[in-house]
Amino acid sequence: MNKDILQLRQANPQILQFTDLHLSKNDELMGINCDESFAAVKALSSQYHHIDLTLITGDISQDHSEASYYKCAEIFRYQNHPVAWITGNHDDNELQKEILSIGALTPKKRILFRHWQLLLLNTQIPGIVCGEVNDDELASIEQAALDYPNHHLLIVMHHHPIPMNSEWIDKHCLNNQQALWETIDKVPQVKGIVFGHVHQSVDAVKNGVRILGAPSTSVQFSPLKKEFTIDKQQPGFRFMELLANGTIKTKVHRVADNKFMPTYDPAGY
Ligand SMILES: [Fe+2]
Repeated sequence: MNKDILQLRQANPQILQFTDLHLSKNDELMGINCDESFAAVKALSSQYHHIDLTLITGDISQDHSEASYYKCAEIFRYQNHPVAWITGNHDDNELQKEILSIGALTPKKRILFRHWQLLLLNTQIPGIVCGEVNDDELASIEQAALDYPNHHLLIVMHHHPIPMNSEWIDKHCLNNQQALWETIDKVPQVKGIVFGHVHQSVDAVKNGVRILGAPSTSVQFSPLKKEFTIDKQQPGFRFMELLANGTIKTKVHRVADNKFMPTYDPAGY
């Protein structure tokens, strides 16, 4: 629970979120070359000339390989701002800690700006697709608010904290969503939750908390489907600006021109 804090000072930090890169030794997932799709998304994000932090919200790897994390490390190590990451259901947390702690990449899980505190949670249950916010992580939410009661709190995690109304992916959500919300309801500093995992753009509000999911940088999943369905929308990223009044200005961007077209794989996710 005692998480080292990365101290940053910006008043209205501008943040990029990349998620579900699914990098691997053999590059491809359902007909999409994930190296190329990520490169295209990263290039698109360069329209933002001033960024204070990049968040990579899990599923960096598709195959748990060292090679996938070395690819990520090479892409981000010379970034001119900190790059923080979390663990998704596909990731190997030990390899992440070992390989993604170089240059601009930071393993720190608490980040402090002038008005906002970010808390990065590990919701992985090794070996299965579902996630969980364990008791230590739940306690860290309350502790973070006790430590900095005047800061707005943004929770960053891989799994979705509310139902997506897609039956298949809601089977792969947080096992203890209710416990998470019981904690959040006691912590009014929580103003937002940022997540990945669902490979689609989400912008919702629950109990006054902004809920933001981002498109994958690789394959997209169609919203509101009973069965696993891939989507022809293009890979993308989310831009956020955390305002001093506790609100979040945000926009999703996607690659243009149907450059990346997936092939249907009945084996699913
Ligand atoms: Fe994913």
